[in-house]
Amino acid sequence: ANQSIPHEKTLDSSLALLNEGYLFITNRCREFESDLFQTRLLGEKVVCMRGPESAKLFYDPERFQRKGAAPKRIQKTLFGENAVQAMDGKAHQHRKLLFMSLMTPPRVETLKTLIRSEWLHKFNAWQQSRVVLFDEAQDVLCRAACAWSGVPLKEEEVRDRAKDFGDMVDAFGAVGMRHWNGRRARRRAEAWIQELIEQVRAGKLAAEEGTALHEMAWHRDLEGNKLDTKMAAIELINVLRPIVANATFIAFGALAMHEYPETRQKLRSGDEAYREQFVQEVRRFYPFGPFLGARVKSDFTWRGYEFEEGGLVLLDLYGTNHDERVWNEPNAFKPERFQEWAGSPFDFIPQGGGDAYTGHRCPGEGITIEALKVTFDLLANEVEYKVPEDQDLSVSLVRMPSLPESGFIIEQVQQRS
Ligand code: HEM
Repeated sequence: ANQSIPHEKTLDSSLALLNEGYLFITNRCREFESDLFQTRLLGEKVVCMRGPESAKLFYDPERFQRKGAAPKRIQKTLFGENAVQAMDGKAHQHRKLLFMSLMTPPRVETLKTLIRSEWLHKFNAWQQSRVVLFDEAQDVLCRAACAWSGVPLKEEEVRDRAKDFGDMVDAFGAVGMRHWNGRRARRRAEAWIQELIEQVRAGKLAAEEGTALHEMAWHRDLEGNKLDTKMAAIELINVLRPIVANATFIAFGALAMHEYPETRQKLRSGDEAYREQFVQEVRRFYPFGPFLGARVKSDFTWRGYEFEEGGLVLLDLYGTNHDERVWNEPNAFKPERFQEWAGSPFDFIPQGGGDAYTGHRCPGEGITIEALKVTFDLLANEVEYKVPEDQDLSVSLVRMPSLPESGFIIEQVQQRS
């Protein structure tokens, strides 16, 4: 017999979501002893789910669509309006291949080399000074991402552009100031990149084949039309912005090396398998993407639960990465656990689940892992630094997105000989 999904008996839980942040869905799944429950957010009925079985359901394209799922406030800050994240079906797959085509092994090597040399340049320039690692990482990644993508970037614009990419991400869980900063940042970035797309098409700016600038400028949709210049700009920003967003994982990884010093020692042993396990554990353990949304395509029943056409569903990423049925001691930082991870596409989902080619899973997961490996290798092996005590290294599970409060300050940075 069909059962109704456990209901929360409140009028609206929007405030609770703001108060509980990354644990909002987990807290209620515990309370209901269920992987899914129904609540109301911003006046709308919403089914929240967590765990690998729920993730598998969420990534079934027969049952869910992305069109109409992301609120306008997210599209006007984080995603860009009507871009790849909001597409479905064949049109989505075609657009997605455009992103995947940027990630060939030689292109990934190029990005790694760029990131490496930007860091070495920084280490040289710092000379004992005191720096906020998060900000420095944004600048490093912004320079590398632009160079890799064929986007010209003057030295004096680096900080502002990097900050704008950061502000688009910082807006996702925000109301008020942070939200408006995100909108302003997106408007500025879109104007900047749209102008470059126009210059490429007019033959006034050279773009090398295989770079994101070239591919976004010349891509044709399934009807054979070029993207309008604004959409091309939005999709190019969908490459640049998330590369810069890796600064968050870099700050978290540096924090892990600080709080669990044995991990830093192991990173120094040069064991490549360990380096990857460390990166995976950083992506699993620390809070970044909280949850994703999709809408029910048409009525269906799953395990006796009825899902109604048009209904909004949220999949808990953070909660799934901390699901105690999958992860032994989920709140302990243990890179070695990844020796045994079987590689399921649905139980470890910091960048979404399922398949990147056919579904919405992040196309940048491979370059994220590589960028982090290069960076943690350098931070462990190429430099010595002190982590001053007069800073707040706490990580909030309420503020979305999260970050070590101080951005992770380091000082007396010295290159190791
Ligand atoms: C999608 C996270 C890095 C490009 C996503 C999704 C998440 C995510 C959670 C949504 C998956 C879904 O909707 O099912 C992250 C995190 C990153 C990161 C935490 C590390 C900082 C990157 C990089 C790129 C990228 C480096 C560069 C190309 C995209 C794009 C999508 C996406 C274009 C939309 C894919 C689609 O809708 O089909 N990412 N990502 N991301 N990511 Fe990433």
